[in-house]
Amino acid sequence: MPIIEIVFTSPNLNHRAQQLSEKLQLPLREGDSVNYDYLLELSESGLSLVPSADKGYGPISCDFVGGSHSHRRRFGGGNGQAIAKAIGVSGKFSPRVLDLTAGLGGDGFVLASLGCSVTMVERNPIVHSLLADGLARAVTNAEDDSELREIMHRCRLVEANSVDYLQQAEKGGAVEGRDLASIDVVYLDPMFPERKKSAKVKKQMQAFHAIVGTDSDADGLLALALNVATYRVVVKRPAGAIYLAEKKPSYSLEGKSTRYDIYTLKKLPG
Ligand SMILES: C[S@@+](CC[C@H](N)C(=O)[O-])C[C@H]1O[C@@H](n2cnc3c(N)ncnc32)[C@H](O)[C@@H]1O
Repeated sequence: MPIIEIVFTSPNLNHRAQQLSEKLQLPLREGDSVNYDYLLELSESGLSLVPSADKGYGPISCDFVGGSHSHRRRFGGGNGQAIAKAIGVSGKFSPRVLDLTAGLGGDGFVLASLGCSVTMVERNPIVHSLLADGLARAVTNAEDDSELREIMHRCRLVEANSVDYLQQAEKGGAVEGRDLASIDVVYLDPMFPERKKSAKVKKQMQAFHAIVGTDSDADGLLALALNVATYRVVVKRPAGAIYLAEKKPSYSLEGKSTRYDIYTLKKLPG
């Protein structure tokens, strides 16, 4: 496990930093310590994971308001995008999606932008904190942006292991107050083990791997997902990767670097 310390950039963030330190069981940085791999930096502009200088890549944070997310929301191709086709988003149908491997919420946010209501589940406490921070900032910024406000209304985040979460939900018959039967599509994008040609793995992805690991238990999620989805389960994989749980999908949508494996259960409405 890498060495991670929490740092805050202004005195009025002291309390939040203390809370984060207790929740994540990570030390608050004292003085100018140099013996760390990452800083979890709390600043007025949000929470980010900052690698030590020798790592050679920049900070990781969730920004749903500007940058690439905003650009994709406006110019990304809407329902023509592969992920939209895989999930089954159309002018007539906006599925309710359960994203059991939320990560930094990129895919969940795209789906919410396309009209889906999305419950995102993330188990890694650091990743969850970054995502929760990004979503909270988007909600604040959405005050002046009605489209973003609607998107954020469609997103919810749960901190849990999806296996426990689904088992609890099955006992209670509900996910986040919604009937279990109301989950249209389950989406899975577990970490794939780093391939040997790791130079090809983007540097930021390497940082993410260092924090999250490889999700080696991901195979088990597929059977659970097939149990709760109404219409389909969609698994995102690197192009050329083996199928999750070695289970052949109904069909796949193959792109240059990404493949979506679609396990259909029922014909989509519309
Ligand atoms: C490759 S990332 C997902 C990236 C995401 N689709 C995005 O667009 O940002 C995989 C994430 O799934 C999470 N994860 C894997 N297995 C999980 C489980 N059983 N329960 C909850 N989260 C899980 C990992 O912690 C990791 O953050």
